[in-house]
Amino acid sequence: MLSKIFAVVLGAASLAAALPTFHNVTGTTFTAAGFGCDNPPWGLSRDDCNYLSSIGFTGPGSNPSGGSNIRIGNGGPNTMTFSSPNTDVVLVMWERVDDASAFVAVNRPRLTWSLPRGSSVTVSLDNGVSGAWSAIYGRQTRLAWTGIVENTWGEFTTGGSATVNISREPNMGGNNFVAHVSTGCQADMDHCSYVCKQGNSCWQSGTYNLIGCTEQPNNNAYFGGADPSGGCQGWSNNGHIDAYFY
Ligand SMILES: *[C@@H]1O[C@H](CO)[C@@H](O)[C@H](O)[C@H]1NC(C)=O
Ligand SMILES: *[C@@H]1O[C@H](CO)[C@@H](O)[C@H](O)[C@H]1NC(C)=O
Repeated sequence: MLSKIFAVVLGAASLAAALPTFHNVTGTTFTAAGFGCDNPPWGLSRDDCNYLSSIGFTGPGSNPSGGSNIRIGNGGPNTMTFSSPNTDVVLVMWERVDDASAFVAVNRPRLTWSLPRGSSVTVSLDNGVSGAWSAIYGRQTRLAWTGIVENTWGEFTTGGSATVNISREPNMGGNNFVAHVSTGCQADMDHCSYVCKQGNSCWQSGTYNLIGCTEQPNNNAYFGGADPSGGCQGWSNNGHIDAYFY
């Protein structure tokens, strides 16, 4: 009996210890609380939901099919189709409202969508939306100590200044993302891609380069400022992106 109680106490302790602690850009330290997955949102499997909770997401995406400027389904003024040919992934997408939006340990992303190997999903976006996507691969990807997804990202703005790029700044060793734009421009690990000048991650001014963009059709790469900027542009009218997770 005693050993049974002991085992239960140990079990609870190891579960609590498994939830990660983050130190975000404001210098705040906090430990993830985890969340329940009895009723995961539409499109997110229970196992994926539990994994997101265990690595410190503050909550799953709501995965809206309407009533949101980023939503599951066709028919929007801009669409992105995400495919994962080889691996089980979870697509994560957030709207960039402010500097804290990418910190999924603090702010819920809009989408966390399970993409079992061989599947795809189409997302509609209104014009004038900025945001980014990343992915959790094979229930292995984790959050960085700051509370962002520690993988490759795709960053976008829709509408009149539509641009998309791949950012390897969060993790130079991240998974292989491709974003093929309807204008013919491609952003991938070597094209219209932001890379760190040194180290495995970077974000401060002067620490990153934009590579392989000027030779792409319909790019707006710009090197005149303190830092390079731009990516694949010109998909402002019914833009479509085919994005792949390899
Ligand atoms: C940092 O953490 C604090 C406390 O959880 C939170 O209020 C704030 O929004 C976070 N900021 C960022 C940029 O993540
Ligand atoms: C990549 O493109 C997005 C969307 O336009 C933009 O917000 C972001 O600043 C770009 N990334 C870099 C490092 O310039």
